[in-house]
Amino acid sequence: MCGIVGILGSKPVAEDLVEALRRLEYRGYDSAGVATVENGHLERRRAEGKLRNLETALRAEPLTGTTGIGHTRWATHGKPTVRNAHPHMSAKVSVVHNGIIENYRELKAELTAKGHKFESDTDTEAVVHLVTDGLDNGLAPADAVKAALRHLTGAFALGIIFAGHDDLMIAARQGSPLALGHGDGEMYLGSDAIALAPFTDRITYLEEGDWAVLTRGGAEIFDRAGHRVARQIIKSSANSLLVDKGNHRHFMAKEIHEQPQVISQTLAAYIDMAKSAIDYPDLGIDLGDITRVTISACGTAYYAGLVGKYWIERVARVPVEIDIASELRYREAPLPKGGLAVFVSQSGETADTLATLRYCKAEGQRIASIVNVRTSTIARESDAALPTLAGPEIGVASTKAFTCQLSALACLAIAIGRAKGTISAEKESELVTALAEVPRIIAGMLTDESPYEELAQHLSKARDVLYLGRGINYPIALEGALKLKEISYLHAEGYAAGELKHGPIALIDENVPVIVVAPEDELFEKTISNLQEVAARGGQIILISDAEPELAGCKLAAYIRVPHAHAFTNPLVYAVPIQLIAYHTAVFMGTDVDQPRNLAKSVTVE
Ligand code: M6R
Repeated sequence: MCGIVGILGSKPVAEDLVEALRRLEYRGYDSAGVATVENGHLERRRAEGKLRNLETALRAEPLTGTTGIGHTRWATHGKPTVRNAHPHMSAKVSVVHNGIIENYRELKAELTAKGHKFESDTDTEAVVHLVTDGLDNGLAPADAVKAALRHLTGAFALGIIFAGHDDLMIAARQGSPLALGHGDGEMYLGSDAIALAPFTDRITYLEEGDWAVLTRGGAEIFDRAGHRVARQIIKSSANSLLVDKGNHRHFMAKEIHEQPQVISQTLAAYIDMAKSAIDYPDLGIDLGDITRVTISACGTAYYAGLVGKYWIERVARVPVEIDIASELRYREAPLPKGGLAVFVSQSGETADTLATLRYCKAEGQRIASIVNVRTSTIARESDAALPTLAGPEIGVASTKAFTCQLSALACLAIAIGRAKGTISAEKESELVTALAEVPRIIAGMLTDESPYEELAQHLSKARDVLYLGRGINYPIALEGALKLKEISYLHAEGYAAGELKHGPIALIDENVPVIVVAPEDELFEKTISNLQEVAARGGQIILISDAEPELAGCKLAAYIRVPHAHAFTNPLVYAVPIQLIAYHTAVFMGTDVDQPRNLAKSVTVE
């Protein structure tokens, strides 16, 4: 997945293209490039790595065209080299693409047989040659694109410009998000409205199968069948300012520290604080009638969903099926008619989650999504979008979005429980009060990070790190391991503490740190038994707990004290130390905390 942008401007556009790409870097940062129409012919500049390298290339050889496209890449086909960086082009056409052209091999073979010469290893180049082929056969640009689109399978958002056409850009969308921006005598396209926010807040979201012919005077939009269609122009609330790091060294640190505030904001959307009661939005379904919930998500959002399963089953006594989004639809899970399917996503654009949402919709499920980006495709395609109010999350490693997802899920569990009568008004009030306490507890935990700095030095020497947790805190162990591997590149795995003896214990020796998430709850004693098993094999135990360290009954390599909280809210509270462990370890090891290698913030390919 990648970020694309296009501008039909009234002055040279290269600088603005780079500004827009900076706002899309969360979608990929392997390489970047821009192409413009320069006195009738196409020119491009491309560079490996971060955008600053592209800026250097543009300073060395400026582009002055007023019509241009740009791209920031997360490699799918072909290594992240200049040769594979977008825009791809022929003498007649230049293309930026987000998504995957699944039939590019067949297309490449056909076009190569016709004499087209491919220069890159990408799937995208097939689009360049397909459109060029149409132009070679005398088609006008819009007709050449229309014909090419009929041959493409897969997911794409495309931005296309043409040699000899200074007032023309074509956009197309199938499976990957694409927004058009309306300026005064200027037009824009971008992977999202945030990219276009410095230029315009008047946005049209293309729908599945749409393609559009843009000139400085506006856009003509066509649907898949080629019929002219009208799509609404909405006023986007995407902020035109790039969020900054404030006093923090990294976005991730800032986002960890924002958690007390954004959890409060999110809880306020679902709780009537004055009444200590849940005030949940109408999902268009009687929560009292729910007999099963299906949750689906990816990565960190999946772990939030897993905590949600424990909460909903415990509080509302409703069975919850949870699946990684890339698995659910392919196993063709049978879903009860009228069931509730819940999708959790920060970006609201994750391709696997979106595809599964569509599968569940086709299976007659009522769709609710817990999303951070309200204008996202997942939010727009849901029957009910339940917002998390985390604000923009820039660090690739999800932190505040995770705890806000947990906040929304905790409230959903209480809302279903109340509707089904599985909890009393007193219990509801107790749980809501406990949730309302969380921001204060977390704020207290963020006042001293020195224990994490010390622990980071220790962990940085490890080759493998294990995380253990039990019950509702098992997903926190999984999330801890994901955080650590994502940003420090240390190998880490999370296990249910009780599962250790069924295999993973073979990994334990004196070189393996084992981080144990063990609040003093009803399962504490059981977790401590598992911890003893590790100690007996010489493992280095790092205990994260509100219990006194002596209760571990063995020598600890480190102890992270956590304030006591209601057992219901422990996943929210224990999320913070596992984030800080990963953050400080990565900082100590000198990795790129906010943009770790090989990753992208938003994964819009399957
Ligand atoms: O935008 P989403 O919440 O749908 O993204 C899902 C995952 O890609 C995401 O949570 C990923 O695992 C994070 N990088 C984890 O820190």
